Amino acid sequence: MSEDKDTIVLGIETSCDETAAAVVKNGQQILSNIVASQIDSHQRFGGVVPEVASRHHVEQITIMIEQALQEAAVTLEDVDAIAVTQGPGLVGALLIGVNAAKALAFAHRIPLVPVHHIAGHIYANHLIQPLHFPLLSLVVSGGHTDLIYMDAHGAYQLIGETRDDAAGEAYDKMARTLQLPYPGGPQIDRLAAEGEATLDLPRAWLEKDSYDFSFSGLKSSLINTLHNHKQRGQSLPIEQVAASFQESVIDVLVTKTIRAAEAYNVKQIALAGGVAANQGLRARLQYTAAQHNLEVLIPPMSLCTDNAAMIAAAGTIEYENGQRADLRLNAHPGLDLEGLHR
Ligand code: KG4
Ligand code: ZN
Repeated sequence: MSEDKDTIVLGIETSCDETAAAVVKNGQQILSNIVASQIDSHQRFGGVVPEVASRHHVEQITIMIEQALQEAAVTLEDVDAIAVTQGPGLVGALLIGVNAAKALAFAHRIPLVPVHHIAGHIYANHLIQPLHFPLLSLVVSGGHTDLIYMDAHGAYQLIGETRDDAAGEAYDKMARTLQLPYPGGPQIDRLAAEGEATLDLPRAWLEKDSYDFSFSGLKSSLINTLHNHKQRGQSLPIEQVAASFQESVIDVLVTKTIRAAEAYNVKQIALAGGVAANQGLRARLQYTAAQHNLEVLIPPMSLCTDNAAMIAAAGTIEYENGQRADLRLNAHPGLDLEGLHR
């Protein structure tokens, strides 16, 4: 009697400031998921310093991969494919992961599969529950605010994106204005829960049918409000500022997501990316989707921020679709998601 063989994929992620390796079975079962965060090293600079990130990746990558294999109790001989983030991201950071993946693939004759970082974020949801199509994903991270429609595994259609700052970038910039430490998202989220969203701030709805986003007007408006209060010698509780900012961001994100989900008649909404860790966003999306009888997938916090299990999950789909790279594979800092094949 023949039994289907398991597919074991080693994932590698180094696109920004997390050095990560993971082993995933059959695209859904996490055998190990190891992440070395560099936040402490970048915090005093108020943001990610690319050179510092690359150096940390070089120091950590081999250790992460060894730990991931060890914790999963597999060897490279058991690994069917190596999935690595090819882009988008910082080129020097991406290169460390891509080169590590190429070296292992070459030395052990293992198929090499390039993965788009955002595809990885979306597939973090597949590690929790199988994706059902058609699906709409709201991807909110430090570099992206995208609404992506999918009618099959590995098929991505961008229906909306930010025209200026990404949601995470807006949080980080706002936090810097408020003199909170990097990364600002979690700080503002925490403060927002303690304040009232009473400041009158704009929401960028853009054109009537647009699924695009814009956060720069909100940022300017809030900076003006802070400035005016200061000039009048009035204090503004930071919790109130955080809550009002968060309310404006979430209002637009959730309203546009629900509108798109209904227009495209999707089966599921999948939240993805670092900002998916935001408590306010998670709660509001869940509540509003339930009112519209829409199913929402939200990854646990540990799978929202950058990790390699999500890269292995997306990589498994690509591997099963026959996608392979050879040793000419290069890092691609501006990699396009829609250009990817099925
Ligand atoms: O996906 P990610 O880990 O890295 C990128 O691919 O960009 O996202 C990082 C972003 C940062 O901007 C960070 O401030 C934001 O996610 N973030 C949050 C929260 N946790 C992380 N933003 C809002 N609320 C949070 N709880
Ligand atoms: Zn990310």
